[in-house]
Formats: sequence, structure tokens, C-alpha cells
Amino acid sequence: MSNKLNIVLFGPPGAGKGTQSEFLIKQHGLVHLSTGELLRAEIKEETPLGMEAKELMDMGELVPDHVVIGMIRNCIEAHHNAPGFIFDGFPRTKAQAESLDSMLASKSEPITAMLALEVSESELVKRLLKRGETSGRADDKNEDVIRNRIREYEKKTAPLKDYYSAQGKYKGVNGVGTIAEITARLSSAIG
Ligand code: AP5
Ligand code: MG
Repeated sequence: MSNKLNIVLFGPPGAGKGTQSEFLIKQHGLVHLSTGELLRAEIKEETPLGMEAKELMDMGELVPDHVVIGMIRNCIEAHHNAPGFIFDGFPRTKAQAESLDSMLASKSEPITAMLALEVSESELVKRLLKRGETSGRADDKNEDVIRNRIREYEKKTAPLKDYYSAQGKYKGVNGVGTIAEITARLSSAIG
């Protein structure tokens, strides 16, 4: 058995994945891998990959699987001594989940658990519109784009609950409350 802790922090746009990752990496010494943040860094540097991703992200669509799988593979290899990872916003499709499993299987360090933050759509839209006032994120500015991100999640990403349930790794966590309350719920789910 591996003693590494590899957590998939799951949930729709605005569920609090990024916010909660900050606390969990401190408590457990994990490396935070957010494909959204990695993509926004590529956009900022105006790389070809960033330019390809920007158009899709601004519309609230997912970027192609091969783009994010390549980024995650590089990061896992770059941090091979880490005590474990928090995957935030990845995997988002079945193809991504299968690739992640095979990357980790080759190192005998499987996913420990998928923790899914559960938040209603009206609360998600409220949080993201509020963040859009200051975040500078193009995909937070417009309610139609926010709702499209949620539709993409429901269509392509939510089915991963079944993928991880079948492995006995899925745990739903109430994502509404104060940030500290939710951190405590996640920590007790990690055990
Ligand atoms: P990504 O960056 O992953 O964005 P997202 O999934 O849309 O989620 P957010 O980052 O907006 O929300 P979050 O759950 O992290 O919540 P946060 O903590 O920020 O992806 C962006 C885009 O990149 C995608 O649309 C896609 O195009 C592309 N992409 C990324 N990964 C991909 C992949 N694997 N495959 C394909 N494409 C990919 O919190 C949200 C707000 O709520 C904040 O303002 C926060 O302060 C507030 N908040 C947090 N907790 C609480 C609370 N308890 N109560 C009240 N407010 C709270
Ligand atoms: Mg995020």
C-alpha cells in the first residue's frame, strides 16, 4: 500500500475547490495541482497552449483532454517526492480520470479519495458573479458563461461520481457554510 495521500477535490464551478485546497495543502503538506490555474498561467504568458485554451475558457467550455493531461503528467513528474497531491479541477472527463489512474498506477500511488463539494446552482452563480466584480476572470463576468460552465460540469464532469463510486472512493461533502466549517468537514472525510 502507498502511504501517499492523493485527493481529487471535486465540485462544480464556484464550489470552493481552490479556497479549500489552500487549507488542505497546509494541513497535510500536499502539492496543489489546479488545471484552471495552470491554464491561466499559460494565458498570462501568451504561450500557444494558452492562446488555444483562452477562447474555450472564455466561453465556459472545457479545453481538450490531451492539453490538460499533458500538463498534469509534467507536474506529477516534477514533484515525484511530494507526500501527495490535491487535484483541483482535474479530472473533468472520463478520459482524464482514466489517464490519471494509469499515471498513478505506474507509480503504485493511487487516488485515495474523491471529495465532492455539494453546493446548489443558485449559490454557485451568486458566488461567481460576486467574484467577477474583482477577479479579472473573463469567465466570471457574465451569467450566461457561468451557467454554461455549470452545464459543461453536469454533462461531462458530474458522471465521474459514478467512476469513483465504483472504486469505493467517492465522498460527498456539504459545501455550504463558513470556509472553516467546510475545511473541518473535508478534514474529517480524509480521516
Ligand atoms: P477552473 O479554474 O477549474 O474553474 P472552475 O471549475 O470553474 O471553478 P472555480 O475555480 O471558479 O471555482 P472553485 O470551485 O475553485 O471555487 P473557489 O474556491 O474559487 O477552470 C476554469 C476553466 O479552465 C474551465 O471552464 C475550463 O475551460 C478550463 N479547465 C480547467 N481544468 C480543466 C480540465 N481538467 N479539463 C478541461 N478544461 C479545464 O470559490 C469560488 C468563489 O466563492 C470565491 O470568490 C470564494 O471566495 C467564494 N467562496 C468559497 N468558499 C465559500 C463559502 N464557503 N461561502 C461563500 N463563498 C465562498
Ligand atoms: Mg478554482
